[in-house]
Amino acid sequence: MRHLISPMDLSVQETEELLLLAERIMDAPKDFSHLCDGKKLATLFFEPSTRTRLSFEAAMLELGGQVLGFSSADSSSAAKGETVSDTARVVSCYADIIAMRHPIEGAAAAAAAKATVPVINAGDGGHHHPTQTLTDLLTIHRWKGGLRNLTVGLCGDLKYGRTVHSLIKAMCRYEGVRFLLVSPPELRVPDYIREDLTAGSFPFQEVERLEDAMDQVDILYMTRVQRERFASEADYLRLKDSYILDTAKMKLAKEDMIVLHPLPRVNEIAPQVDNDPRARYFEQALCGKYVRMALILKLLGLARPSLPEAAAPQPQIIPSLSCGNPKCITAVQPGLPHLFHPVEGNAHLCRCAYCDHTCGGK
Ligand code: CP
Repeated sequence: MRHLISPMDLSVQETEELLLLAERIMDAPKDFSHLCDGKKLATLFFEPSTRTRLSFEAAMLELGGQVLGFSSADSSSAAKGETVSDTARVVSCYADIIAMRHPIEGAAAAAAAKATVPVINAGDGGHHHPTQTLTDLLTIHRWKGGLRNLTVGLCGDLKYGRTVHSLIKAMCRYEGVRFLLVSPPELRVPDYIREDLTAGSFPFQEVERLEDAMDQVDILYMTRVQRERFASEADYLRLKDSYILDTAKMKLAKEDMIVLHPLPRVNEIAPQVDNDPRARYFEQALCGKYVRMALILKLLGLARPSLPEAAAPQPQIIPSLSCGNPKCITAVQPGLPHLFHPVEGNAHLCRCAYCDHTCGGK
């Protein structure tokens, strides 16, 4: 049984196969319309969503399956104190596959550890959003003709924007990819992402002005400032309009550049930009449905399997070490074992298996 918790849970080969399958579904959806007859998808959304939940549900319906679930924590027994581990174990009795969104980092990993059906992380706090990444990769693949030799500009809230973290992790694996990270100092990428970029010698540059990046990028990935992750409303109000992409800035960009945004947008892309042929964020939202159809087929074992992959390293308990991230699922779910992976190249550090927070003292 496979889960999708991080974009790295799929190999490069599997990811490319998935994108090709999504394109085949796009071209001939009727050929796939009964592959999930009799199957059920549970959508467990403890946080608001429009695209992710509805595209997952549309994906399963278009494959011939059925859907059940909830769209807010208030309408589930989480409101009575149930843990995500127990919820996942119970819902495994009612559905063949689970897509879950939760505000706590590492919650999907905790759910997967107890579920008896595949679990898909549909967003865990400010940590990861791997199916948005598959959506982004499919959009880039279709409109840029491939995933290699691209300069990717990511702009906005790079600290809390989980789609940014997942996209960087995934795109690092392609040759010739370079990142321009555009954010205010307060909203730079988290340490674990910067450490990965540095350790892998992946070319990246952090800049504050969007104008300084516009003429270099092949893809401009705009993001919303994530109000719900700020401890201080005053900080949010100060930073929320740090970047606004408008028609004047679009004039600085390459003619074949594309603009992506995971959506929802608030104020960071002026509506006039929607009329620019380089704006691809609504096509991106459509790609999300097809790539989720492909993912459901793969995780249910209904797509042609790829070559067997080497087994993933198992996380370990390290005596007397616990995760220090107050936003990690281990901080809110009592009894969850604190599990860690070693950090490559540093024998004294390890990383929380749920939220990736770097911890010392190994
Ligand atoms: N891109 C994305 O995750 O959108 P929703 O929050 O609407 O699901």
